[in-house]
Amino acid sequence: MNQTALQDLLVRIKADAAAAIEASESIDGLRAAESKLTKGPLAEALKSIKQFSADERGSAGKAINETKNAVKSKFKAAQDALRSANIEGERKRAATFDPTMPPTVSQQGQIHPVTAMQREVERIFTGLGFAVVGGPEMETEYFNFEALNIPEMHPARDAQDTFWLTNGWLLRTHTSPCQVRAMLRWGAPLRVIAPGRCFRYEAIDASHENTFHQLEGLLIDKDISVAHLIAFMRLLLREVFQRDVKVRLRPGFFPFVEPGFELDMSCAICEGAGCPTCKKSGWVEILPCGMVHPNVLRHGKIDPRKYTGFAFGLGLTRLAMMKYGVADIRIMNSGDLRGLVSPARLSGARVS
Ligand code: DAH
Repeated sequence: MNQTALQDLLVRIKADAAAAIEASESIDGLRAAESKLTKGPLAEALKSIKQFSADERGSAGKAINETKNAVKSKFKAAQDALRSANIEGERKRAATFDPTMPPTVSQQGQIHPVTAMQREVERIFTGLGFAVVGGPEMETEYFNFEALNIPEMHPARDAQDTFWLTNGWLLRTHTSPCQVRAMLRWGAPLRVIAPGRCFRYEAIDASHENTFHQLEGLLIDKDISVAHLIAFMRLLLREVFQRDVKVRLRPGFFPFVEPGFELDMSCAICEGAGCPTCKKSGWVEILPCGMVHPNVLRHGKIDPRKYTGFAFGLGLTRLAMMKYGVADIRIMNSGDLRGLVSPARLSGARVS
């Protein structure tokens, strides 16, 4: 290396130092940049001293030392400036911090969509004079089947396979057992809804779970007809969705009602186009219903010659899925907190 090359190198080192100081935003950044310059080009300059002749060495060494000290003091000044800026920032923050302010509320967590749906339907029906009642999740065979006109050998039992308990009881397959329990307890006239958890021995997919929620409804009075039933069901769906929902009524068979209906709504996930949630049909079975069968009234100690009534078994979990746009029922029991914040966001999520 000759004098000119050394001069060039030292100029470059100073320029690099200035640029590194300009770019660094933290003390650690400054330290790293300084060490890079010292170990790199500055060490190279120092090493080059050997190449100069004895009378050139003095001035070369002096120039290198000057640069070295200049770089060092520039970095130190930059570190000091940053440190005092940090202290100043802290001081300002401390001055404006108000310990009496309420904390920022986290967005996470809210009522489960099924609970929200249940409360909404309870609000609608209590406004119509219905009482909210409950029933046991561990049921007897009598209330779950017999009292609902489903005797032991009836094929309808096959459609509701369940979990049997060792004491001969079972996990209820629907909320319908609450019907006869309510009749026996309060008699006619009667207006009750019974929300609750139900269980089935079911192959699980996007629209079937072994644990789900239903909401049973029962109205018994004099001269109640199918017209009342349809009017109530329409009102329910209009209130829940806050718009007229496209529905269709088909005959449906349930031993505890006669006549029985399946009330389907147009699938809210695909808007009727067909998707896995509605099994590609565009319709979702949401509200099976019908006129209470005379045998069921008799089990409830109500005289079918004096009273008639309607009943429905609303699929609460399915209704919540339709209302909040949840495509996969498994999200509802998954415990995934994102499902509470925004259930629809999880619609496309795969659930294991
Ligand atoms: N319990 C029936 C089920 O889970 C649904 C049902 C149908 C309930 C008709 C009713 C009804 O009250 O009238 O499949």
